[in-house]
Amino acid sequence: MVVTTTISDSDEHLHSTFASRYARTSLPKFKIPLGSMPKDAAYQIVKDELMLDGNPRLNLASFVTTWMEPECDKLIMASINKNYVDMDVYPVTTELQNRCVNMIAHLFNAPVGESETAVGVGTIGSSEAIMLAGLAFKRKWQAKRKAQGKPTDKPNIVTGANVQVCWEKFARYFEVELNEVKLKEGYYVMDPAKAVEMVDENTICVAAILGSTLTGEFEDVKLLNELLSKKNKETGWDTPIHVDAASGGFIAPFLHPELEWDFSLPLVKSINVSGHKYGLVYAGVGWVVWRSKEDLPDELVFHINYLGSDQPTFTLNFSKGSSQIIAQYYQFIRLGFEGYKDIMESCMENAKLLKQGITKTGKFDILSKDIGVPLVAFSLKDSSRYTVFQISESLRRFGWIVPAYTMPPDAEHVAVLRVVIREDFSHSLAERLVFDIEKVIKEMEDLPPRVSLESDHFTLDHKADEQHLRKKPKNADEGKKEICSYWRRISGKKTSSVC
Ligand SMILES: Cc1ncc(COP(=O)(O)O)c(C=O)c1O
Repeated sequence: MVVTTTISDSDEHLHSTFASRYARTSLPKFKIPLGSMPKDAAYQIVKDELMLDGNPRLNLASFVTTWMEPECDKLIMASINKNYVDMDVYPVTTELQNRCVNMIAHLFNAPVGESETAVGVGTIGSSEAIMLAGLAFKRKWQAKRKAQGKPTDKPNIVTGANVQVCWEKFARYFEVELNEVKLKEGYYVMDPAKAVEMVDENTICVAAILGSTLTGEFEDVKLLNELLSKKNKETGWDTPIHVDAASGGFIAPFLHPELEWDFSLPLVKSINVSGHKYGLVYAGVGWVVWRSKEDLPDELVFHINYLGSDQPTFTLNFSKGSSQIIAQYYQFIRLGFEGYKDIMESCMENAKLLKQGITKTGKFDILSKDIGVPLVAFSLKDSSRYTVFQISESLRRFGWIVPAYTMPPDAEHVAVLRVVIREDFSHSLAERLVFDIEKVIKEMEDLPPRVSLESDHFTLDHKADEQHLRKKPKNADEGKKEICSYWRRISGKKTSSVC
């Protein structure tokens, strides 16, 4: 790399220079360069390369917040240099975290008094929160089994096959067997009756999702609680429930306060929620709350002494930023219950508008439900000429990032597109997206079917795959299945690229 060091470091150059004036060869990729470079050069070089990233606001694949008020941005920048773990140095930040935990616990109907401290912790996201909740269940189960003189080497967890990948991670990292209830076409969430059937004496918990990642649908936690209570009575076990409310935790309390899914159900012992999804904070914050102290084994809690008082901590990592915790507290007091409710209502309205537009094209079946996370999941009625994957690719031309994926077992033959509606996705953007979807469909329909398959972004380098795709499907259903199975092969059996 050629770096011109004669160019001054002064701020004058910040807006008037371009990276090509500094770096004439490719940038360092493997080794830290020997010498330094002027700060304006480094800034411009990095900024220029980042231009090729997608636009976060048009990233409709993600639930994660992409816009916050400038006042909150200021608070974030002001605390960007605070390490959260230095609790004795930043006691106010710690206090803000504790206030957030209390507010979330009350929102989820935890049995704590008006001014009683709740049990929970801020995390990097729902994934870390789920690891912690899962570990607590595992330890509790092990302790009970040991006391009964029973083996503790085969813990399992029961979930739907629609769980987010973090549950698979938990199972693998912490050596717990993951027993998944299979889905079927037309039913894309965990069937509570089947889940309870799968529970045995080694089940550390059943995890229900409030807002399936794939379709946004809420699982029936109330029915699960009923059926599991019955089984617990019959067997003498006390299998608990965890609710993965990563996205639904900040939707249901505002839009469906009558829905019973939280600590109001006795078997629900812990709940996670992503602050960075509908908690309306930028990426990097999640929460886990336990029903009571008894549900979090004390051996998992580390006690840090700060300013003479005891600060219990239970997280996987040590250092982390403080900004997201501060931003979460800002959102809670800035928006209040009414503010969150307004935002969630407007997200739902935009989801409805988009759903109507997509339905009107006549080309799609809608898989998402009206009660759930504000998103629209839809599949092609007929995939014999083009696929959802091609639609997803083509929409990129307009800047839209709309993921396409196949469902988990046993509904792998169903391929869907999913648009997540966040606060910053407006009415007019919804109209514009429908317009672009119609345009893409029209273009594909104007192409002969074979050309539309070949025009995809990937190269057909396996002869078998090529022949497979060129075989004319007998009917629309067969076409859909063949195309999906082809996609699964080339994508290394990945079922989902969504978060
Ligand atoms: C249901 C569910 N659980 C867990 C996660 C992981 O959340 P996070 O990205 O906050 O770690 C997601 C992410 O989309 C999710 O949808």
